[in-house]
Amino acid sequence: MKKQILLIMCAALMLSGCASAADKDKKTENSSASSQSKSSNTTIDSKTSGLPSLKDLYADDFYVGTAVSPYQLGDIDCMLLIKEQFNSMTCENEMKPDSILDKQTTLSDIDKYREAPAVHFDSCRSQLEFAEENGLKVRGHTLVWYSQTPEWLFYKDYDTNGELADRELMLKRMENYIKAVFEWADTEHPGLFYAWDVVNEAAADQGQAKRDCLWLQTIGDDYIEKAFEFARKYQPEGVKLYYNDYNAFQMNKQLEIIDFLKPVAEAGNIDGVGMQSHIGTWCDTESYGEAVRRYNKELGVEISITELDISKDNSDDWEKKQGDYAQKYMEKIIQLKNEGVPITSFTVWGVTDTSSWKKQESPLFFDGNLNPKPSFYGLVAAKDPEAAKTE
Ligand code: XIL
Repeated sequence: MKKQILLIMCAALMLSGCASAADKDKKTENSSASSQSKSSNTTIDSKTSGLPSLKDLYADDFYVGTAVSPYQLGDIDCMLLIKEQFNSMTCENEMKPDSILDKQTTLSDIDKYREAPAVHFDSCRSQLEFAEENGLKVRGHTLVWYSQTPEWLFYKDYDTNGELADRELMLKRMENYIKAVFEWADTEHPGLFYAWDVVNEAAADQGQAKRDCLWLQTIGDDYIEKAFEFARKYQPEGVKLYYNDYNAFQMNKQLEIIDFLKPVAEAGNIDGVGMQSHIGTWCDTESYGEAVRRYNKELGVEISITELDISKDNSDDWEKKQGDYAQKYMEKIIQLKNEGVPITSFTVWGVTDTSSWKKQESPLFFDGNLNPKPSFYGLVAAKDPEAAKTE
């Protein structure tokens, strides 16, 4: 009964963004994060508190993160699990251009906002407060992307029935957008962000060309270079600038990505490549490892695993296979790290299978009831086989 009342209080406080107040009533936690002092003396047992902690196991290797959506923070057990397992997070959707660009304000005075569209940060507020209160660092995701970016941004008068904006105007909008986001991060959340996906998914899937998109159509072939140039100009202190993509391990796609990032690297404007890693047990860990080495060597950048999920296959024993694969995959990451490849963060794309963007493929490491799956123990066993023993 007492637990139920506390849970309701915690949920109410979390929903109003008061993570630290809620935390006062929970049991003491073992996180090494610096702001944990704010959340000590807690009294509720979390559903998952006895598990090995990924962030503790890999504390000397890299940040361990997850994608977070605001509603998950209203679920106390899920919120506690995030705090136990992760020391980094990415907003799953709330920092994408369609969340940050403020259409209403921009359209209210087109002349005023013509070169600098208005922005607001309401959507990500609760997640960032949660991160700050609990000592998680954040990956910014994402600035320049073909998807989840409103079409009106690319039109001269912000009117999709009118003409597309020309190169000069779009360069101004791109620069001012990046500047506004980075200045907000620096002013409102100094030290919170450690990396930012400046350009996301610019490579075409068939190889040899950049993906066709409105950034390419309006600015032209050098839009990626320009995005990184502006990002470098305004980057908040301590933030690494990333290019991020899926299937970035596939040979053709990798060569294409390296090709268009070469000038960016030569200009000194990129720090990292993000391997999204929406994969399945089919993904060959040897060629994946080769790709990671090649990015590091050819571009002189660090690497992050930014969105790992491992789709199930169609077999009856898919859970075991997924678990075995997760271990093998993680052993490869550890091997690369031990060779000296600078892998600085490792993020899984969500918390539970049922909240995954690919929920039909059960690709994550906890099931819908927050029970750890064999894939969770695979990630643990790669580092510490003893800790992964369940009996
Ligand atoms: C996905 C989110 O998980 C979904 O909730 C949303 O509907 C679509 O975007 N690559 C990326 C992520 O860079 O931003 C995407 O996230 C998954 C693929």
